[in-house]
Amino acid sequence: MKILDAEMTRALLPFDGLIDALNQGFRTGCVSPIRHHHTIDRNNEPDATLLLMPAWSHSRDDPSYLGVKIVMVVPGNTARGLPGLTSTYILYDGVSGAQLALLDGNVITARRTVATSALAARYLSREDSKTLLVIGSGRVASLLPQAYRAVRPIERVLVWDIDAARADRFVETLRSSGMKAEVVSDLETAVSTADIVTAATLATEPLVKGAWVRPGTHIDLIGGFTPRMREADDDAVVMSSVFIDTLEALIESGDLTQPLAAGIIGRSHVRATLADLAAGKNPGRTNREEITYFKAVGSALADIVAARMVYEAASGAGVSAR
Ligand SMILES: NC(=O)c1ccc[n+]([C@@H]2O[C@H](COP(=O)([O-])OP(=O)(O)OC[C@H]3O[C@@H](n4cnc5c(N)ncnc54)[C@H](O)[C@@H]3O)[C@@H](O)[C@H]2O)c1
Repeated sequence: MKILDAEMTRALLPFDGLIDALNQGFRTGCVSPIRHHHTIDRNNEPDATLLLMPAWSHSRDDPSYLGVKIVMVVPGNTARGLPGLTSTYILYDGVSGAQLALLDGNVITARRTVATSALAARYLSREDSKTLLVIGSGRVASLLPQAYRAVRPIERVLVWDIDAARADRFVETLRSSGMKAEVVSDLETAVSTADIVTAATLATEPLVKGAWVRPGTHIDLIGGFTPRMREADDDAVVMSSVFIDTLEALIESGDLTQPLAAGIIGRSHVRATLADLAAGKNPGRTNREEITYFKAVGSALADIVAARMVYEAASGAGVSAR
């Protein structure tokens, strides 16, 4: 079994290749049961959660893979000064079940997440999108400019974060890598000047207001993963052509469950999944004035596509098993 640590996993997942691999993966599909959640009681701290995200190739596919992402969510780690989330990916041969690789799941998650958003933007954002507003500056948000630059001619990155010092550090990093970037404090002005608005936060109240969004904008929401979380308000969803990564977005994310439950939008307001876009079953953006909206909650399909890409590159590159 190959053991591929964070550095190696990152090096073998360049965004341009990963975005193309995801496009192919969403077109082909795979089998991915609803993720398993197990609550783990803890003494004197909030419960932990064990998340299992399995996926495997269709029986017709060759080569065939099976993979599981194991995620530990430990809210009590905040008090320990440790990350709240740790994940590991195990890849198997889909036919024999032989173990192939153990990969850094944190890197897989962060990179497949932003690459999924970039892939959606290839179908949904205007081709000449130049100004990117990133809301948040955490592990996922910090990779968004690089991923978006793989699909659109981004010239300027605006960053807003609830933690202004964190936004400052993120902008410094972007500038040191040669990007034109600035921290913004006025979210309304920033939303109304951006071509693409992307958010990866833990917000529970809407940050993006539909009233601020100008025609032609693409809105990309990554953060909300429970029915109580919101990153954009009802106006934003009502005025937009709405797309989702997978059908799980309809039951997991407050950005959609809340307006659906309130009858503000109906199920038919959601136009297509990323699989539909990749398969050409939906054209995506149809004109320059349209406001598009992509809500992702993450998928085991995207994980296995990324894990396969790393494994195949590592095998080809002759990385020896440790
Ligand atoms: N859709 C997906 O596939 C996918 C994949 C991975 C992570 N995520 C989600 O993306 C989000 C960010 O993940 P991360 O690993 O970057 O986390 P992180 O902890 O590294 O970053 C969180 C960011 O949210 C900001 N934030 C915290 N509370 C906020 C609030 N109340 N309002 C506004 N901003 C707030 C923080 O300042 C920080 O910038 C999480 O909700 C995570 O679950 C989604």
